[in-house]
Amino acid sequence: MLTTLKPQAEDKILKLMGMYRADPRDNKIDLGVGVYKDASGNTPVMRAIKAAEKRLWETETTKTYTSLAGDPGFHSAMSSLILGGDVPTDRIAAAATPGGTGAIRQALELVKMEAPGATVWVSDPTWPNHLSILKHLGIKTRSYRYFDNETRGLDREGMLADLAEVQKGDVVLLHGCCHNPTGANPNMSDWQDIAALLEKAGALPLIDLAYQGFGDGLEEDAAATRFIAGRLPETLIAASCSKNFGIYRERTGILLGLTPDTKSRDLAQGTLAYLNRQNYSFPPDHGARLVTMILTDEGLRADWMAELEEVRRSMLALREKLAGELRSRAGSDRFAFIAEHRGMFSRLGATPEQVDALREKHAIYMVGDSRLNIAGLNDRTVPILAEAILDVGI
Ligand code: LMR
Repeated sequence: MLTTLKPQAEDKILKLMGMYRADPRDNKIDLGVGVYKDASGNTPVMRAIKAAEKRLWETETTKTYTSLAGDPGFHSAMSSLILGGDVPTDRIAAAATPGGTGAIRQALELVKMEAPGATVWVSDPTWPNHLSILKHLGIKTRSYRYFDNETRGLDREGMLADLAEVQKGDVVLLHGCCHNPTGANPNMSDWQDIAALLEKAGALPLIDLAYQGFGDGLEEDAAATRFIAGRLPETLIAASCSKNFGIYRERTGILLGLTPDTKSRDLAQGTLAYLNRQNYSFPPDHGARLVTMILTDEGLRADWMAELEEVRRSMLALREKLAGELRSRAGSDRFAFIAEHRGMFSRLGATPEQVDALREKHAIYMVGDSRLNIAGLNDRTVPILAEAILDVGI
């Protein structure tokens, strides 16, 4: 069997990571994979994580299994981080998962199990791994227009027109904040229209929340999720702690299932635990435990929030700086969208040839659809990128 396997298409983001590592040029700039980097190009362990790890090492007395759905303390800490006090706890089913990707996978497993004929709607574009997992699971997929390649903002009309075709029982995958890969996001009035369409159709929202705290702030970035969760009878939320706690390799995420009543919550809770058992049994605990310690300890939480805010502000400052450099060099405002976008990414709207030219001629790496990771920049490299963008004719 192992000799007849077919080669699998490589994930384009991970492929780019490999190409960057193999490039010997010492002036290379990595704007590819979505990992936060500070001004020196390092991805630091956050202060609160270090402190929690020390405390955990001193106090942890066992590594025996937690429960199948993960630690209930993690469920409640994450539920309140994401939902605030907005949803009664007896309506929330929860399972810890290996990262946000694990939560997406479990959510789609649940959809496949419960409604094998359902169509899952995804934004065009979306994170490539959404499409890859959907294909792997054999789930029917349709896309809704999302990005206006002229304005580099949200294609509001196109999105709402496409979502008006959603049918009862369909699932609509939404990015709760900091859209990946475009950086363009709906405003609150757009979210109201999205929610109304889903409600009218009787569709299930699946919200991917991988960047809470990277856009406009922890509370602001949860506002759309809270609004949808409060408005619709059922919502699935796949959240990641990789970015906002900087614990990428610990694989820490959560799947929340918001149900109309306690009876269906209990059913959903049992199903999430069952799905964990089928796929990997108990979820990883180390990262989840650190997150719980931080969220439930006043001092650690305050320090984490302060550092996250520094990270968020540094990305906003880089956006302003890049937009400013491009404004003065291009003599126009056509790159103003970079300062309007939120989160880690912006889609430049360049052609694949221009992206190739950036890499080949300028050693600047970004994903082929012209998504750039803002956090890969620093004060020194912003002018270099601005110059290169104009040089390749973007
Ligand atoms: C990204 O989009 O770059 C990140 O979410 C990392 C990944 O796994 O693709």
